[in-house]
Parts: sequence; C-alpha cells; structure tokens
Amino acid sequence: MSGPNDNFDPKQVAALSEQSIGGYVAAALQAIAAARTTAELKQIRLAHVGDKSPLALANREIGALPPAARKEAGGRVGRARGQVNEAVAKRQQELAQQELAATLVAERVDMSLPVELVPQGALHPITSLIDEMCDVFVAMGWEVAEGPELEAEWYNFDALNLGPDHPARGEQDTLWVDPIGAGKLLRTQTSPVQIRALLSRDLPLYVVSPGKVFRADEYDATHLPVFHQLEGLVVDKGISMADLRGVLAHFAKAMFGDVELRMRPHYFPFTEPSAEVDLQCFICHGESGPDKPCRTCRSEGWIEWCGCGVVNPRVLKACGVDPDVYSGFAFGVGVDRTVMFRTGAPDLRDFVEGDIRFSRSAVGGNR
Ligand code: DAH
Repeated sequence: MSGPNDNFDPKQVAALSEQSIGGYVAAALQAIAAARTTAELKQIRLAHVGDKSPLALANREIGALPPAARKEAGGRVGRARGQVNEAVAKRQQELAQQELAATLVAERVDMSLPVELVPQGALHPITSLIDEMCDVFVAMGWEVAEGPELEAEWYNFDALNLGPDHPARGEQDTLWVDPIGAGKLLRTQTSPVQIRALLSRDLPLYVVSPGKVFRADEYDATHLPVFHQLEGLVVDKGISMADLRGVLAHFAKAMFGDVELRMRPHYFPFTEPSAEVDLQCFICHGESGPDKPCRTCRSEGWIEWCGCGVVNPRVLKACGVDPDVYSGFAFGVGVDRTVMFRTGAPDLRDFVEGDIRFSRSAVGGNR
C-alpha cells in the first residue's frame, strides 16, 4: 500500500477511476447473477467485495490520493461496495429459497405410504406358562429352584431311590453323555432338583423347579425328545398327603378353572405312597363312552396330568434329612401337556418348529 502522498500517481488514479470502479461493479454483478448455489455465491462475494478484491484494494489506495480527491474517491468505492453487497444479499435470498425448495422436494416423505411394520416377537407358550405356573407358587411363598440339564446319574437316579438295578431306570429312555459309563446324562426328569434343593437349602423347603427334560422318545404329535416339567417339593414338619391334595387342587384351579381332580394310586421310587393326578376331561366332562367317544381322553373321561406322592424317607436320608422329624410331598407336571390341555393345541411338534404365528396365536402364550 502506498503511503500518504500529495502527488498524483497515474496508476492509483486509474484504480479509483469511475471507469475502473464501474468495471469492478459490472464484473461483480455479472458473476453474482450467474451464481448457481449459495456456496458459489460465497466465493463470488469474497472475490468481489472480500479483503483481496479489486474494490478493497482500490479502497486502500484512497489514502494515497491528495486530500481533495479522497472524498470523491471514497464515496465512489463505498457506493460500489454497497451496490455489490446489495446484489449479493438479494441473490443469496433467491438461491437460499431455491435450495430449500429443492431439499423439500428431494426429502419429501409420503405420509400416505403404508408403513413397513417390523414384526414383534412373542413369548413361547411354554415360557409364558412356566412363568404363570411359578407365579401360582411364588404367591404362596414358595421359591423357584433351578438345576442343570446335563446332570449326574447320582442326582437323576441313585439319590431318588432309583439304584443301578432298579427296573424303572430303563423306562426313562435315558440319553447318556459320552463317555458312556462316566455317569453323565441329560436329565430325564426335573426330580434331581429335589435332591439339589435338599442338599443346598435350609428346611423347611417349599420349592418349584421348572425346566427342560430329555428322553430318547419318538418325535410325534404327542411326544417330543425334549419337553418340560415343573417339579414341586415341600419338606417340613407334619406334612401329609392331605397337604399335597390341597396344593394340587389349588394349582389345577389356577391352571384350568373349576375342574374335577382325582388321585389314582401309582408307583414312583422317590415317593411312597405315590399317585397320579387326573383331570376330568374338558371336552366330554367324563360323559364319553363306547356310544359317545371322546378323542381327547380316549373316552376314559379323565386325562392324566401329573405324578406325585409323599417323599420317600430314603430320599430324605440320602440328603441327610431325618425322616422321623421331617416329611414332605413332591409332584411333577408336564408343562407341554398343560399347554395342550389349556389351549387345545393338537400337535406337540408345533411347539418346536419355531413358527412365530404359533406363538402369537390364541393357542400360544400371548392369549
Ligand atoms: N419325575 C416323574 C416323571 O418324570 C414325575 C414325578 C412323579 C415327579 C412323582 C415327582 C413325583 O416329584 O413325586 O415321570
């Protein structure tokens, strides 16, 4: 930049001349009019009225003019800058509006389009029923106990009074785990949790234990090799078969509403005496017979639901509990069967095929 100077410098005069300034303005206005985007306009503004623009540079030369000429030159540059800035502001508004309109078109959301709903999962009917069953007992102050699915032979059999030569061992179609002979198996029943609870918890004991059990069974409409049981165990002072009956009546009512219940003598090695609990058939209400057949109960009028009995003193002894002081009852119920009875689901295979429509249906858990 030149310092104050009283002499005319022809070059400086040229930069500040009306013609030069007019040229800068014309070039700026042309560029502004041609700007296609606000980003482009910003560059144009910097080039034509920014610090390094010809107008800014010309402005700096004013100080070098003789004082008499400064006012006029300053006014000329100021008007020129004002004119360019005004044009920039006007074009800025136009371009911003155009850009907004384009964005609104590009990002338009059609509110009338059908929404693609992401299907929600559903709890499996077995899971729902196990929760519901446990709730019945938790409401009475019982605890929920769990045990492993890969179990030791001693818990699954020996401690439950099913010694190595017991004939009932063979009835359970046990799935032994390699190496065979090492005493490891997939539990055939939830009853081993009785033993685990007796060995690990304090008396008195009121527990239910739901879970998977495994047997080398057929895979058909009424059998699955993996199914579910809910085991119950009470050990306290003065417990009798009458307590068992009362608890099962309450449980059956919670599951099925008003339903007739009967106990039939049966045999289980871990209970003595033992019984099987039948529910009166929901379909024929016990009124079927040769002339009026019922498929659900095979015209027997009753449906087998659960095994139970008074805990065998040998089981208590195996767990270090004195059978002269304590007594108890136990029961084991099939969860899958209970779902079938409650909902009329005709085929157990639907339970494991993973079709979400089954879980969501009236038959399934979300009733
Ligand atoms: N564990 C038996 C089974 O799988 C069911 C059962 C019967 C459980 C009688 C019990 C019981 O606790 O007392 O067939």
